[in-house]
Amino acid sequence: MSGSLKIVTVVGARPQFVKAAVLSRHIRSDRYKGKISELIVHTGQHYDRNMSEVFFSEMQIPHPDVNLGISGGSHGSMTGEMLAKIEEVLAEHKPDLVMVYGDTNSTLAGALAAAKLHISVAHVEAGLRSFNMIMPEEINRVLTDHIAEYLFCPSAVSVENLRKEGIPKHLTPEKKSKVFTCGDIMFDASLFYREINAQRKEEDKIIHRLNIGPDFVLTTVHRAENTDNPARLEAIFSAMNEMEETNFILPLHPRTGKIVKERGITINSNVRVIEPVGYFDMLDLEEHCRLIMTDSGGVQKEAYFFGKPCITLRDETEWVETVQSGWNRLVGAEKDTIKMALMKAVAPKTQESLYGDGDAGTYILESLLENND
Ligand code: UD1
Ligand code: UDP
Repeated sequence: MSGSLKIVTVVGARPQFVKAAVLSRHIRSDRYKGKISELIVHTGQHYDRNMSEVFFSEMQIPHPDVNLGISGGSHGSMTGEMLAKIEEVLAEHKPDLVMVYGDTNSTLAGALAAAKLHISVAHVEAGLRSFNMIMPEEINRVLTDHIAEYLFCPSAVSVENLRKEGIPKHLTPEKKSKVFTCGDIMFDASLFYREINAQRKEEDKIIHRLNIGPDFVLTTVHRAENTDNPARLEAIFSAMNEMEETNFILPLHPRTGKIVKERGITINSNVRVIEPVGYFDMLDLEEHCRLIMTDSGGVQKEAYFFGKPCITLRDETEWVETVQSGWNRLVGAEKDTIKMALMKAVAPKTQESLYGDGDAGTYILESLLENND
């Protein structure tokens, strides 16, 4: 690597490709030439073409410099294997900084490997909390935030969450962590790629290719708390099946797909199951749907960016502003509550800008250059 600030970016799961696309593009622009360089490490956590490669090609993310090929297994073995392998990469390349995104096992492994080698960690999407330590994601994000030097928060609430945990704090007697409010990097991604997507031919777009009608509910389900709990998953599918007049488009995460098959869960014809889609197709589905029902963190926010009411299949959310503003409703996984929410969902009349000005990427890089000591 050349350049004055050497960054190793660790990604592994679908939402991280979307987030990393923004910074990778900026880093390779003229503005940062000679100032910042990046080596991309893919842990291999997500590996199907439509869970990984499609994002790199569509979003023009440089091909990963290293792919560790680690996926599946228990959380401990996956995270442990990643830790050992990332440590080797960091020892070889000696970056100034390791960049991690969000709250997956790849996030924690990247942050921990760096911190143990005394390499600075920058965490994008810092300070998010569900206050539910049953979630693997909550463990990952809390631990990452406590060892990160640069904490990039998407919202005021996330800054406040960190403050309550004593962050910023001294990491060593000499070094204190730094907290920034930068807006949401997924907002940057949605604005930038929406424009590129608009230039695609209509016949290439998913709405046309799959002949999707004008009135549908875009649905995604993949959270462990839903997929690994038979009663919850059954209730979610029963609610959709019983809403016979409602068309659901369900790009199904492979995790959920496997479990639905194993358990022989019934899916009626009003629920159209499709393979996970690439980012452009997802943007199209979000733009054209009537409403969104999801347990995804990223998709809850994208519903807000697209001005679509959201029904969240969880008991709590990290993105509390979307609920407080009336655009998102938490329904858990209880059949009748889901059906009622589907019948009643309407878009509020107003929408504030909750997640910044769409330029979190530049803010993050400028902050790193200014504060890098
Ligand atoms: C992971 C993250 C979760 C994030 C989600 C984004 C953790 C603990 N969880 O969950 O926070 O919201 O990614 O999508 O890091 N699989 C495939 N092909 C793939 C990827 C996964 O078949 O390309 C299947 C495998 O059976 C795998 C299972 O999905 O064992 C779960 O994958 P894993 O990466 O462990 O967790 P996710 O549920 O994807
Ligand atoms: N996404 C996608 N195709 C899909 C489902 C999701 O491109 O079939 C995108 C979505 O638009 C968002 C990101 O993946 O940008 C969210 O990832 P996911 O829901 O897997 O994870 P989470 O955000 O819950 O961690």
